[in-house]
Amino acid sequence: MNTLITNIKHLVNVREEHTLLRGKALAELPIIEKAFLYIKDGRIDSFGKMDDLEITNNEQGILNDESRNVIDAAGATILPTYCDSHTHLVFAASRESEFVDKLKGLTYAEIAAKGGGILNSANKLQQTIENDLYNLAAERLKKLIKLGSGAIEIKSGYGLTVEAEIKMLRVIKRLKETFPIPIKSTFLGAHAFPIEYKEKKQDYIDLIINEMLPAIEKEQLADYIDAFCEEGFFTVEQTEQVCLAGIEKGLKVKIHANQLHVSGGVELGVKLNALSVDHLEAMDINSIQSLANSNTIGTLLPTAAFFLRMQYQPARQLIDAGCAIALASDFNPGSSPSGNMNFVNALSCIQMKMLPEEVINASTLNGAYAMEVENDLGSITKGKLANLIFTKPIPSLSYMPYSFGENLIDKVMINGEFYE
Ligand code: NIG
Ligand code: FE
Repeated sequence: MNTLITNIKHLVNVREEHTLLRGKALAELPIIEKAFLYIKDGRIDSFGKMDDLEITNNEQGILNDESRNVIDAAGATILPTYCDSHTHLVFAASRESEFVDKLKGLTYAEIAAKGGGILNSANKLQQTIENDLYNLAAERLKKLIKLGSGAIEIKSGYGLTVEAEIKMLRVIKRLKETFPIPIKSTFLGAHAFPIEYKEKKQDYIDLIINEMLPAIEKEQLADYIDAFCEEGFFTVEQTEQVCLAGIEKGLKVKIHANQLHVSGGVELGVKLNALSVDHLEAMDINSIQSLANSNTIGTLLPTAAFFLRMQYQPARQLIDAGCAIALASDFNPGSSPSGNMNFVNALSCIQMKMLPEEVINASTLNGAYAMEVENDLGSITKGKLANLIFTKPIPSLSYMPYSFGENLIDKVMINGEFYE
């Protein structure tokens, strides 16, 4: 079915051509006021000013297309859907009791003993059957699409055994097959060392390399390889070992880097030509320069900093240095129990002083690059998928991050059809 959308107040992120945005270009957000948009077979076919609809019609016959459906946007603003390039959407159970314990002042060790942390999420996931995990993840994903996410990356890493990592990745594969949006799958076996490997860490790395990766290759279960490069988790050397083994299997690299410490994870990512290095709360001049001089995208996860009450990512410094940055939710039960990209954007403006134009570009087009869906999503461009956010009436685009906490999304369109 073809669809003509009329009376769009602002058609946002309209581009004939696109590149990964860095520096001043991140603040340039092309908008058409009083616009129309024409969708053919689920993809963007043409767009322009309402005043020029007749002219476009004379060239393309939009108004005479008998199979077309007309939607009057009635003054809604339309944006491309968000591309959330970093999530841990598949997990067995929430961890709000750990959250309350932290509020009451319990230490990390006390919380771990009571059932908190990555290892305990792994414990629960190992005991949950694949179908139940799928149903839980599917419900979460439906909610996120309604909040405006039209593409998502999902990591494993709460399995930590061959069997449970494969189970998680199979759940992600099933989500890919059943949901109408692009989904990318990342193998994060190197998320934490299981307790039984505490004194023999190389054995766990060998398990990742010699057993998990071949099994993943056999079933084609992953697009990317990731590791948590951090003190107390995986060293730079261990991260490199895991990532090189992934590269050999054809997987591009994404790294959890510089979340708690300046770890060398960013420089390693740049060296391995990583698609992205993610988190970046703890950055120094060297890591900023290294990232700025590379093709690697810095994916900022401000809701994790918010939830853990940590310093925010130095977004302004990164942008001014010329780094290409994306924004993502890090949705997970431990450090960011929300996948709402509208809140990610608001927080990025409020706490990191990013401009509204910058947060939209970072969560749409640069997010698309950070999960390699830029040819299909991330901007309003001819030929791209019609995955669109329709806002409720808003006075201006800046109202979206300003009026944080209010759901300003009226409807979401996926492949040219409203998502119910
Ligand atoms: O991206 N940093 C490492 N991993 C997750 C959180 C893990 C958890 O607590 O479950 C993150 O923040
Ligand atoms: Fe993460």
